[in-house]
Amino acid sequence: MNTEDFRQRLMVALDMPNAQEAFALRDQLAEHVGWFKVGLRLFVAEGASLVRNLLETHKVFLDLKFHDIPNTVAQAIESAGKLGVQMVNVHAAGGSDMLQAAVKAASAFPNMNLIAVTVLTSDSMSPEEANKLAVKRALLAKEAGLQGVVCSVHEVANIKQACGHDFITVTPGIRWGSQDVQDQKRIADPKFAIESGADYLVVGRPIIQAQIPTDAADEAIAMMAAAT
Ligand code: C5P
Repeated sequence: MNTEDFRQRLMVALDMPNAQEAFALRDQLAEHVGWFKVGLRLFVAEGASLVRNLLETHKVFLDLKFHDIPNTVAQAIESAGKLGVQMVNVHAAGGSDMLQAAVKAASAFPNMNLIAVTVLTSDSMSPEEANKLAVKRALLAKEAGLQGVVCSVHEVANIKQACGHDFITVTPGIRWGSQDVQDQKRIADPKFAIESGADYLVVGRPIIQAQIPTDAADEAIAMMAAAT
């Protein structure tokens, strides 16, 4: 796997306050990463038009973590599909009916992966508890027909074992060197994430708040590529 392949496995969380700052960062990082993740902060501020703009140059993971009654979630998934994003997510904690409704709505959009949040990487439960719950929720998502999950690096191996190698794992909580852990709890560095079998790495503050974001992105890519 070469550097370009790893760029396509790094998702930068554009947790910016407005479109102007988001586009400035997109332009800087344009050649360095394949994906941008749009979460609550930016989506609430700028909405669908910003996502459409990002989609002109990059793949987009719409990280709005839907968790509502099945009909409402299905409708939101349909809207995400129409927007054209390549990945969208729901909370596995929403239960089987909600997950199945989401899968049905997503089936009209074969180019969009539907994944479920297992346990937030900021959750303070013990690693053993988190692992058990993450695997249980991943299995629930798999049985409902979702393509993968968001989980911590430390749960990837068990989830792949339970749900199969092709079940996608997207891992936030990435930190390296002397970076501040901030509100994340179950963290890992980019090299260990790849060695653990993670398919995609989500990185926010270590890149977007870096002095030179392109250097931080390249550092993450180099660490991914150094995985054995
Ligand atoms: O800044 P940092 O690298 O901690 O950002 C992580 C990003 O991943 C944030 O946008 C956060 O909302 C998101 N995320 C997460 N844990 C999850 C799902 C998404 O940290 N389980």
